[in-house]
Amino acid sequence: MKKVTVKNPEGKLGVLIVGLGGAVSTTFIAGLHNILKGYGKPFGSLTQMATIRIGERTENNFPFIKDYVSLSKPEDIVIGGWEIRNNNCYEAAKEAKVLESIDLDSIVREMERIEPMSAVFDKYYVKRLDGDFVKRGKNKKELAEQLRDDIKKFKELNNLERVVVIWCASTEIFISENEVHKSLANFEKGMLENNEDISPSMLYAYAALSEGVPFINGAPNLSVEIPALLELAEKTSVPVAGKDFKTGQTLIKTVIAPMLKARMLGLEGWFSTNLLGNKDGVVLDEPGSFKTKEESKLSVLNTILQPELYPDLYKDFYHKVRINYYPPRGDNKEGWDNIDIFGWLGYPMQLKVNFLCKDSILAAPLVLDLILFMDLAQRAGMKGIQEWLSFYFKSPNHSPNIIPEHDLFIQQMKLKNTLRTIMNEEPITHIDTDLE
Ligand SMILES: NC(=O)c1ccc[n+]([C@@H]2O[C@H](COP(=O)([O-])OP(=O)(O)OC[C@H]3O[C@@H](n4cnc5c(N)ncnc54)[C@H](O)[C@@H]3O)[C@@H](O)[C@H]2O)c1
Repeated sequence: MKKVTVKNPEGKLGVLIVGLGGAVSTTFIAGLHNILKGYGKPFGSLTQMATIRIGERTENNFPFIKDYVSLSKPEDIVIGGWEIRNNNCYEAAKEAKVLESIDLDSIVREMERIEPMSAVFDKYYVKRLDGDFVKRGKNKKELAEQLRDDIKKFKELNNLERVVVIWCASTEIFISENEVHKSLANFEKGMLENNEDISPSMLYAYAALSEGVPFINGAPNLSVEIPALLELAEKTSVPVAGKDFKTGQTLIKTVIAPMLKARMLGLEGWFSTNLLGNKDGVVLDEPGSFKTKEESKLSVLNTILQPELYPDLYKDFYHKVRINYYPPRGDNKEGWDNIDIFGWLGYPMQLKVNFLCKDSILAAPLVLDLILFMDLAQRAGMKGIQEWLSFYFKSPNHSPNIIPEHDLFIQQMKLKNTLRTIMNEEPITHIDTDLE
């Protein structure tokens, strides 16, 4: 294995969030400030709470990940971002109605101080939203250049060593990959011609990568994984990751489906429904944005179950995903899964899962982990798609010649083995010692 050298995390780490005033973003930011003040704990975050085994089981060596790899410290994070309305983070968090007043009032000053920069936004891509804090430019290239200026200024103003950009903004309409996405040259020409298939999320990604800044996509829309932007990431040696945070129903799905397959139990049908009442729910109620989310949620089962290898067990299973906008629930999403399975001789059985979750509470720790791991990847000289971070995504970006890995526990093993490799340690294979 080649020796990896990781640069130390000197100085401050800037984090620029697209969709700064959203539910996920404000829950992450308020959570971070609460944690820094000792008012709460970072439950759900591997970088802050998980351990990693080093060496043989007999060695009993389980350091915390944050002590094992050289991660930036949460207190060294400086937050900024873009939004389509000019509200500070305190106002936005109040509006998002995720956290209780008690968790916001203790950090009012810290939250009020974080104000957005104006966004690159076009209603064509998110039909249910209107924004009045939006950049103007004669073409998309000019808009991307304005975003690059924002990144430069943010870095200078806050005296930052490094920056990471993360998309926590609304889900854009479904766009299929086509000619304009195929190469950087086509993409740059397309920006000048205002090509419709270049979305705002792609412009943010282009700006970040051009500035040598890692880009993470937390939503399901086509973005940084297009060949044009991967070409740019290669050129500027920048890591990228996406897409669509794996938080609720899909998190459960990627645990149950591998279990069924591991035990060779068959699947006849899987009906997943969601009740969601926040702004994300409004956006996903629109068919264009819903299609983007639906594709992301549907892809998981086929890849895990491999019906082409196991036709008796998984050929033609029925899979349906619904998202219903239901205002009374707010951010407290309710996921229902009805799973029709069969066992020995084909006898039918059922599983019912009712997950009463809090969408943004599940997503916030993922934002923290992804930022810190992407910064680590960049300091370790890693570039392009970071497949070891598939653990965090519903629809993990992957190289074109391989299938994505969806099984949560294989993803976890891959993540931890990558950390071991970054630290020039042998990966753990779980082979019986007799055979080693
Ligand atoms: N558990 C989860 O919450 C979860 C899981 C997976 C994916 N996601 C995705 O994460 C994203 C954020 O979720 P949320 O619940 O915070 O949604 P939200 O609607 O509360 O926040 C999104 C914010 O993005 C802003 N925005 C939209 N387009 C923008 C642009 N072009 N530039 C700048 N800002 C823009 C909106 O004004 C809004 O404030 C959504 O795309 C959602 O689908 C969330």
